[in-house]
Amino acid sequence: MYLLGSILASAVLVAAQTSTLIPTSSTPSAVPSSSSSAEACAKIAKFTGDTNNIPAKIAHDCLTSVPVAVEEDEALINQLKLMWEWNSETGWLKNTPETWDRGSLDLISELDKIKGNLSNYDSEYDVHLAIQKLSIDTGNYHFLFGSDILSIFLFWREVAMTTISDDGLKVPNTYVAGDIIAQHADDGVSISPITKVNGQDVQEYLEKIADWEQYTNLDARYNNLLFREAKPGSLVSPAQVFYGVYDDAATTVTFKNGTTRRYNNIATVSGVAENIDWSEVTDGKSLFKILSKLKTAADEPDTSSAAQKAARHLSRRTLIPRDNTNYPEPVVNHSDAMMAGYFMDTVNDVAVLQISSFDTSSVDNSTESSREFQRLVKEFLEQCQDKDKKKLILDLRENQGGDVDLLLDTFMQLFPAEMPFSAQRYRAQDGYKRVGDALNEIKKNDTAQEEFDSNWSEDILTTHWDYEDYVDVNGDSIPDWDTWLGPFTYNEDNFTLTSRYNMSNSNKNSVLGEGFKFENPSSGPPIFEPENMVMLMDGLCGSSCASFHEELKNVAGVKSVVVGGRAKEGPMQALGGTKGGTILSFSEMSQTIAGMINATEALGIEGFETPELKALANPEVLLRRAGVDGQIQIQDQVRKGDSSESTLQYTYEDADCRMFWTTKTLFEPQALWAAAWAAHTDENKCVKGSTKQPSSISGGFKPFGAGGLKGSMEQDDTATSTGGLTRKFSLVACAATTLLSFLL
Ligand SMILES: *[C@@H]1O[C@H](CO)[C@@H](O)[C@H](O)[C@H]1NC(C)=O
Ligand SMILES: *[C@@H]1O[C@H](CO)[C@@H](O)[C@H](O)[C@H]1NC(C)=O
Ligand SMILES: *[C@@H]1O[C@H](CO)[C@@H](O)[C@H](O)[C@H]1NC(C)=O
Ligand SMILES: *[C@@H]1O[C@H](CO)[C@@H](O)[C@H](O)[C@H]1NC(C)=O
Ligand SMILES: *[C@@H]1O[C@H](CO)[C@@H](O)[C@H](O)[C@H]1NC(C)=O
Ligand SMILES: *[C@@H]1O[C@H](CO)[C@@H](O)[C@H](O)[C@H]1NC(C)=O
Ligand SMILES: *[C@@H]1O[C@H](CO)[C@@H](O)[C@H](O)[C@H]1NC(C)=O
Ligand SMILES: *[C@@H]1O[C@H](CO)[C@@H](O)[C@H](O)[C@H]1NC(C)=O
Ligand SMILES: *[C@@H]1O[C@H](CO)[C@@H](O)[C@H](O)[C@H]1NC(C)=O
Repeated sequence: MYLLGSILASAVLVAAQTSTLIPTSSTPSAVPSSSSSAEACAKIAKFTGDTNNIPAKIAHDCLTSVPVAVEEDEALINQLKLMWEWNSETGWLKNTPETWDRGSLDLISELDKIKGNLSNYDSEYDVHLAIQKLSIDTGNYHFLFGSDILSIFLFWREVAMTTISDDGLKVPNTYVAGDIIAQHADDGVSISPITKVNGQDVQEYLEKIADWEQYTNLDARYNNLLFREAKPGSLVSPAQVFYGVYDDAATTVTFKNGTTRRYNNIATVSGVAENIDWSEVTDGKSLFKILSKLKTAADEPDTSSAAQKAARHLSRRTLIPRDNTNYPEPVVNHSDAMMAGYFMDTVNDVAVLQISSFDTSSVDNSTESSREFQRLVKEFLEQCQDKDKKKLILDLRENQGGDVDLLLDTFMQLFPAEMPFSAQRYRAQDGYKRVGDALNEIKKNDTAQEEFDSNWSEDILTTHWDYEDYVDVNGDSIPDWDTWLGPFTYNEDNFTLTSRYNMSNSNKNSVLGEGFKFENPSSGPPIFEPENMVMLMDGLCGSSCASFHEELKNVAGVKSVVVGGRAKEGPMQALGGTKGGTILSFSEMSQTIAGMINATEALGIEGFETPELKALANPEVLLRRAGVDGQIQIQDQVRKGDSSESTLQYTYEDADCRMFWTTKTLFEPQALWAAAWAAHTDENKCVKGSTKQPSSISGGFKPFGAGGLKGSMEQDDTATSTGGLTRKFSLVACAATTLLSFLL
């Protein structure tokens, strides 16, 4: 349970309801400032009663008093290196393009540097923070490192901030969110913009702390910090995916009118650490001892099926806010708040399909939820047709991804004559090759295959090697394992064949969402022409949402408008979430390898095991200390028609137009939608310098379209709308019993 979430949610709610400022200066229990850090851990017990309001400094002093566990960290890093070799982008990251603002990163050699330098770190916390920073610096939120010591406390502050422009075009000022809320409720309230935070220029400060956000570009990282409609923003809440980063005892805000306010920084004991009896903690050493005895989720047997495991997704699920009264009456409204459809009261013929999540993994009945999603998209489109709506805004703000089948289905409902591309590949390194070689040998022997299926397949995520369940970029079957394996070398790294889902495949191992069927509307013209559609983005869309954006942009030719970003003019990328494929948790990875070792031994298949695979089969320290939230991304994705076959993640893509937030668009979705539509249709309503960028459709980027590819990934100019990949080819002909629910 994340106490933090509820504290913040209610703080924001209270602020919104009473129009008071977001927490002013509620001084937590005073702490003698003379307290030496050595004793900090012993003080925690005093604060862990009702409030959980531990002064951030005490929590941080406690963490940094835990001595470095040198031997254990060496083992952990050795095991992590083996795990990270499987990450699809480990090679690509070593040589990133100019446009990648994080710069190149050699994950493995950076881990070695930390390992070689363990005795120079001040504390165990600092070591793990350094490892976590590497995962953050990939900019890919599918690639996660968290650990026991990092997850004891969540750090947050009692102040949220937001940027507001007078008209959506002028460079915005930064305000305390509570001030904006108060002024929105009462014009008479006089407020002043922020000039400095902790003595530093406010923009420099925000850009600095945005460095801890796990998004691909700085505008997206910056956006995630800030207060957004019904979201506190991570400036308040933990500064990245799961954990907060300590940043001083307080946040001092200086306003333009000369006023200064001081907000406390707070630490909350998080889920994993709730079972700690703090009265037993006397210092850093004893905290570490207790921590090592805590039962973590990774210790518990995982009873879910292989298919369910493959579909699991550590999601940061975002929902359509329930408490927001500013939405118009919805035309359709998903009961798990994943999507809703609206007709605007103010702009007559514009309909809005808001999709806040594709993720059904955390709802009570994901089958039901998924069916409802499909049904409501269908119903909404029918209503649009009935009411003669000709224009559509796809509001994808906050959408962090989810089920692949839903994104594909939604795309195909919007464009019944077009086929999504959705291509991916694996990193063809030694471990991946060995598993595939062994599985391939098993396949050649019916007896062995039978034994394998009945005894081992539950533990092993064979789906990542089942080339039969995929098709190549042209939609043709993949003849054999060697064709799939390649390797194909790009950017000095090796990959498997770029491949796509077989949309008509009903094989149980590739089919993950029980009984999923595409709606499969009869092939015909779309209800909305692509030029009468626009995606409304906020930089935070990623994973399945990024795939949805990719199909809409590169196959259908739909433009985008993005909102927010740094407080300066110029272009902004439409999305900053990951554009990668399927993920695997550390424990799924090691279980697959352990299962393969057992299976190859039992079936008499020789030469599978290597010292590396043996270690990866049982990475004891890694699973014990960092198994709960650890995951890698096992597939990257590739753009249709990109002859360089670059990892899509590193493709720089500006939105077609950018707007800044105004108070009105921040609080009133209809005002935001109206502004987005106006900007989509009139470039004078776009921030200066934000339109006609070469990577955007308005600047000349040519969507590949729905046509087929010729043999390789080369654009086929002759194939337009009736190439090899028509819907008929793989959907209609095959009764569409596909169940595709890989989660991106
Ligand atoms: C070793 O770690 C210390 C403490 O974090 C750091 O200041 C130093 O730069 C590191 N040295 C190397 C060679 O990485
Ligand atoms: C100065 O600005 C702050 C922040 O908006 C506000 O709370 C305060 O009332 C202002 N002071 C004056 C004198 O207007
Ligand atoms: C959508 O439905 C939920 C109940 O499932 C409800 O709480 C929410 O207020 C509805 N949203 C709107 C905008 O009416
Ligand atoms: C979930 O929903 C599906 C489809 O409505 C239904 O068939 C199934 O029985 C439900 N499962 C549970 C556990 O309620
Ligand atoms: C494996 O499965 C077969 C049935 O296919 C069964 O007869 C055999 O006992 C199993 N072997 C092991 C080691 O479990
Ligand atoms: C890629 O594969 C080729 C052929 O198997 C091999 O020689 C080469 O060393 C590999 N490169 C990398 C970076 O792994
Ligand atoms: C896709 O899967 C279906 C059903 O398993 C199969 O019949 C078809 O041959 C596959 N398509 C290709 C191109 O391999
Ligand atoms: C592999 O075999 C060992 C020894 O029999 C057993 O403890 C372990 O659970 C097996 N692991 C898997 C993933 O099958
Ligand atoms: C096929 O697999 C079985 C079971 O592992 C094994 O006994 C047999 O020798 C294998 N046959 C061949 C031709 O490899």
